[in-house]
Formats: sequence, structure tokens, C-alpha cells
Amino acid sequence: MSKPVSICVIGSGYVGLVAAACFAEIGHHVVCVDNDEAKVKQLRDGGVPIFEEHLPALLAKHRGRSVTFTSDLSEAVEKSEAVFIAVGTPQGDYGAADLSYVEAVVAEIARSIASYKVIVEKSTVPVYTNDWIRRVLHRHGIEPERFDVVSNPEFLREGTAVLDFLHPDRIVVGANNERSATVLERIYEPLTDGSYYAQPDALPGTCSVTHPAQLVVTSTQSAEIIKHASNAFLAMKISFINAVANLAEAVDADIEDISAGIGLDSRIGRKFLRAGLGYGGSCFPKDVAAFHWVAQERGVDFQLLEEVRKINETQKDVFFNKVRSALWTLRGKRLAALGLAFKGETDDIRDSPAISMIEMLLNAGAIVTAFDPAAMERTKEVLPPAENMRYASDLYSAAKDADAVLILTDWKEFAEVDLARLNRAMRFPIVIDGRNLYKPLEMQSHGFTYVSVGRPTAYHAQEGKPRVSAGSKGPRERGTK
Ligand SMILES: NC(=O)c1ccc[n+]([C@@H]2O[C@H](COP(=O)([O-])OP(=O)(O)OC[C@H]3O[C@@H](n4cnc5c(N)ncnc54)[C@H](O)[C@@H]3O)[C@@H](O)[C@H]2O)c1
Repeated sequence: MSKPVSICVIGSGYVGLVAAACFAEIGHHVVCVDNDEAKVKQLRDGGVPIFEEHLPALLAKHRGRSVTFTSDLSEAVEKSEAVFIAVGTPQGDYGAADLSYVEAVVAEIARSIASYKVIVEKSTVPVYTNDWIRRVLHRHGIEPERFDVVSNPEFLREGTAVLDFLHPDRIVVGANNERSATVLERIYEPLTDGSYYAQPDALPGTCSVTHPAQLVVTSTQSAEIIKHASNAFLAMKISFINAVANLAEAVDADIEDISAGIGLDSRIGRKFLRAGLGYGGSCFPKDVAAFHWVAQERGVDFQLLEEVRKINETQKDVFFNKVRSALWTLRGKRLAALGLAFKGETDDIRDSPAISMIEMLLNAGAIVTAFDPAAMERTKEVLPPAENMRYASDLYSAAKDADAVLILTDWKEFAEVDLARLNRAMRFPIVIDGRNLYKPLEMQSHGFTYVSVGRPTAYHAQEGKPRVSAGSKGPRERGTK
């Protein structure tokens, strides 16, 4: 590897912290900055503020040596050749990204630039943010020779973030000159020349010495659009399959067979064709909205993105109506909610469809007992305490005496439930699965009535199919598979 690069990462959240740990893992010197003093203290003291596989081990390996933590942005910037901005870009007014955190960081960087720096947009930002950063630096009196601004969007997925970072499908670098592109190429060199994968203690994944990571250099605008377009495309796949699922249900077809049949087409691919409660999280909803806003600003009609959003919103109502149809009335019903995180293997609850669903059920008067392997503490911080909202220490306790179990998050552990034990715990054996983790016939053979998405409901032998559906708006329920 060429000389290690001194790197500063501003923002130690899901992206910044993983990036910092992984840059250290591939041999660089990293200072990780956050203005949340409590988080910095926790990180310095050996804690890990987020739930992410491999992250604790990487931090334990590099903490205090090649990765350090501080709230002093100026000092960190001064010491670094490359400054990565990885702060949040939440949804702002009218769908546009709120770039105020990025702007605040850029203003602080401006006060600390004494020598040439490459400033890297790692946060997801709309096209032309690069120009804005440049402009803000000029306004603060920084001469153009003292910096370059590069776009290096991040594609990691929470839950597999470390492996995604070290074994990326691609690394995108948007740079408008060679000098800055070269710095980014040096940073990622251990992944692109394969030398990292040759190390005996390298974390194994999809890349290898013979198939190292690919780095693509584009203009800054193209790199910014690649990120928004990638997320919008993935969200579109999810909304598409959910729309097909609703049609499948209306004609007694099976969305799992349909997804497999579509996904085997190599032009389409199997991933992101899982029907369910819809997408959520801190990225897809806001990135679809921000991308749509960008198009509107430029006079481009990108109505497709509005449809993607609408289908995703409607999917929650579709599921809510399934619960109502299965239980007739909801007031006073005891429901076990399995899952709070927006997807499995993470503790992130931002824009979680599971939480939206629980709120709808609580408003309808149901008594909800929730269990999530990692996201319960975060949920307690945002869901106001309510008499009808409870938490359980494991999924079987959540299911105890429940009128129905709802599967809201696709945690691996929810796909491996001891079904006989679950059945014994419940008052009525009804499972309403928003993530299609089970096969209807398997659930029926374990004595459950099993409602899922885009597939016929499997009824418990003694129960049979109701002749009148309780919900008026939900998709029609048809016979047993
Ligand atoms: N989470 C993901 O899966 C993911 C994936 C790809 C891209 N992204 C993008 O990466 C960016 C960061 O996302 P995230 O999920 O890591 O956010 P996050 O909220 O987890 O982390 C942001 C961090 O920035 C810190 N911060 C805010 N203002 C600061 C300041 N002025 N100085 C220092 N620190 C500051 C916050 O305290 C927080 O720790 C967003 O633009 C997001 O869209 C996220």
C-alpha cells in the first residue's frame, strides 16, 4: 500500500463510524469527530453507540491507535489530508434534503483550513451540493488552491455495513480534477489493488485478491446523482413488488413464486423483490423525496418517484386492514409486535414501518407488546409511554396470551421461531406476517391462521375462512392454500 492517508471523518453515526473503523482497518490514520459529547465519550471509553456486526471488533482493534475520537473539529481538520463529511441530511421542507448540518460543518472546516485539503461529501446530498460547499468555502475567504471538494457517496446497508464497506460493489468518486481524485484513489487502494484481501486477518466477503473492489471516477454531479438514483431505483423495486403483491392477492396468486420467477431474470435480479410492509429507514424515504425535489427544481417531470412513495405509504394501510380483517375489531385486542427496527439486524428505527404500524394499532385501541432484539431502547425514547404499549424481553413473552402475533421486521431470529412453543404461548394462534418469513402451508400445519402479503391466507383447520371481512378497504381475502 502507498503511504497511509491522514483522514478526518466528521459525524460518527451509522456511516461515519463505520467508515472511520474501516479506513483504519485498511491502514489509514483516522480522527472521528462528533459534536455529540456523550457519543464521543462513549466511543473513547470503549463503547459502540450503534448495533452493527463486526464494528465492535474493528473498533476494539484500532481504537486509540489508528482511530481516535474527538469533538474538536478544528484540530482534526488541521491534522488531516482528507476530510469526510458524514453528518445527517434529513428530509426538510417540501421533500428537499435539509443541508443545514452539512453547511454548519463546512463553515467550521473553513475556519480550520491552513493547508491543502480534500473535502469529501460522504453524506447523501442532492446534485450541485459540491458547488455549494465550494461556494461556502470561498465566502469564508478560502482560496481555491487550498481545497478540492469530492463526492464519494456511501452505499453501505445497515446490518451489513462493515462488510459492505470493505467489500463494495463499487466505489464512486466524483472529482473535477486529478489531484483530488488521486487522494481518494490512494485511500481506497488497499481495496482496489486487493492488498487488503491478501492479509490473513482481513474480514472475508465478496471481494478478493483476484476480484478486488472497483473504483469509478465521474464528475461530481454524476456521483451525486448516482447515489440518489441508486436509492430511488431500489425503493422503486420494493414499491413495484408490493403493487404486484396486492394484485397477486386479488387473483389467488403467490407473490413469493412471482418474485422468484421475476428475479431469476438476470436483467432484473432477485434482490429487493421482497413484498411486505414497505421500505423505511433513514435513507429511502428521504432520498426518494429529495431526488424528486431535485428533478422538479430542474423542471424535469419525474412523477414515477411520487408513485413509488404513494405505493409505499398505502402498503401500511393494506397491512393495517389485514390485521383488522383477521381480528374483526381491534379495541382491547392483545397484539404481539415482533420488530421495531426498520429492517432486521439493525437498531435503527428512523422512519420504521414497524413503528408506524404500532402507532396505528395503538390509536385503534389495541394493546401492543413489542419485542425487538436491538431496537427497544431507541423506541422507548421516541414512542411516548402509553398504558397500552408494553415491551417484552423475548418474542415468546411478547406472544404470551396474544390474540395475534404480528411480524413487522425481518430479523433472522423471527424466521427461526419454535412454532410449537409460539402456538402454546398465544391465546389464539393467528400470525400476521408483514415480512413473509414463513410458508403458509407450514404455518397451517403448526395450527396457525397465517396472513401474509401477496399470498392467500392459510386458515387454522377449525377456524375456516370468514365469510365477511372486517376491513372495508383491504385486499379481499381468499381461500386456503
Ligand atoms: N445510514 C445509512 O444506512 C446510510 C447509508 C448511506 C448513506 N447514508 C447517508 O450518510 C449520511 C449520514 O447518515 P447516518 O445514518 O450516519 O446519520 P447519523 O444520524 O447516524 O449520524 C450523523 C452524526 O453526525 C453528527 N453530527 C451532526 N452535526 C455535526 C457537526 N456539526 N459536527 C460533528 N458531528 C455532527 C451527529 O451527532 C451524528 O452522530 C446521511 O446523509 C445519510 O443519508 C446513510
